[in-house]
Amino acid sequence: MSKIILTGDRPTGRLHLGHYVGSLRRRVELQNSGEFDKIFIMIADAQALTDNFDNPGKIRDNIIEVALDYLSAGLDPEKTNIFIQSEINELTELSFYYMNLVTVSRLQRNPTVKAEIQLRNFETSIPVGFFTYPISQAADITAFKATVVPVGVDQLPMIEQTREIVNKFNSTYGEVLVEPEALIPDNAVCCRLPGTDGKAKMSKSLGNCIYLSDTPEEVKKKVMSMYTDPTHLKITDPGKLEGNTVFTYLDAFCKDEHFEKYCPDYKNLQEMKEHYQRGGLGDVKVKKLLINVLEDELAPIRARRAEYEKDIPGVYEILKKGTEAAHVEATKTLNEVRAAMRINYFEDAELIASQQKKFNG
Ligand code: TRP
Repeated sequence: MSKIILTGDRPTGRLHLGHYVGSLRRRVELQNSGEFDKIFIMIADAQALTDNFDNPGKIRDNIIEVALDYLSAGLDPEKTNIFIQSEINELTELSFYYMNLVTVSRLQRNPTVKAEIQLRNFETSIPVGFFTYPISQAADITAFKATVVPVGVDQLPMIEQTREIVNKFNSTYGEVLVEPEALIPDNAVCCRLPGTDGKAKMSKSLGNCIYLSDTPEEVKKKVMSMYTDPTHLKITDPGKLEGNTVFTYLDAFCKDEHFEKYCPDYKNLQEMKEHYQRGGLGDVKVKKLLINVLEDELAPIRARRAEYEKDIPGVYEILKKGTEAAHVEATKTLNEVRAAMRINYFEDAELIASQQKKFNG
C-alpha cells in the first residue's frame, strides 16, 4: 500500500514555535526521509471559517502567511503538495455523505470539540458547521487515502473519529477508504509547548507566542522576559525546573552540540539543570543559551522566508499547483466513493440495462 501523508493547519494566524515542534518540524523530516509516496499539506480555510465565518478577511490574509511559514520551515513544493482546502469541492461532498455515518452524541463526546465549544462560549448556540468539523476533517484525510497524519496531540480525537468513519463506510459500502494513523511528537515537551509566560499553551490571543517569522530582536526580547522560577531571586538561590519555561524550551530545542558552541561550561543540558537546581546559576545565562539555540533553528527559516517574500505571486503559483494535484487525487477517491454508495447512475451501463429489463417485463 502507498504511504501517504495528509495534514494541515487553520489559517487564523502566523505559525509559532508550538506549531513548529508540535508538527511542522516533523513534517519536514518526513518529507526529506523519502519514505512517502505522496505528501499533502492543507491550508484549512474552510475549517477556519467554521468559527470565523464573520471574519473571512482574516482567513484570506493568513493563507499566504501560513504558506510562507510552511515553505520557510523547509516544506519543498517539489516533494510536497501544499493546497487550499476550500478549492477542493470533493471534500464538501464527502463530508455530506459521511454525516450519515456519525451520530450527534458521538460528536458531542469528541473531547477536542467539547473543549473548543467551551473556549468559544458556544455552549448555548453551537453553529452546525463548527459542530460537524470533525466530519469534514475525516473527509480531508480520507480523500487522499492518507496513511499517516502528523499532528499535535490535541488532534488525536479527530483521527480516532476518522478511523470510525472509515470503518463504518467500508463495512456499509465496501472497502474503499483507508484507516489513517496519527503521528505525534515523540518528545513529551513538544506535544504541548507552553507560552513564553508559562501558560499551558502558546496562543495568539494570550500574546505569549514566538513566531517563526519573528526578527532576532523580537526573539531576544521575548526570551529575556520569559517566565522562569519566581522564587529564584538571587543567583545563589536554588532554582526549580518544573514550570520553568526557559528549561522547557531547552528540552524541546537543545542538543549537546549547542553546549560546545555556546556554553562550554557544561557538557549537556543535564549538567546545566543540576547547577541551576543547586544554586549559583543565573537566569540570564540560561536565557542567553536559549536565544542562541533558537537562532540556530530560526535563522535559516527566516532566510528562506525573505526569499519567498520577494515573489508572492510565485507562492500563490505553488499553492495553485499543489491544489491541482490535490484535486486529481480527491476526484479519484470521490469516484470510488460514489460507485461504492451506488450513486454513480450515469457510468453504470449494467444499471441502465437492468432497469430497462424490469420495464420490459
Ligand atoms: N484541525 C486542524 C487544526 O486545527 C486542521 C486540520 C483540518 C487538519 N483538517 C485536517 C489536520 C486534517 C490534520 C488532518 O490545526
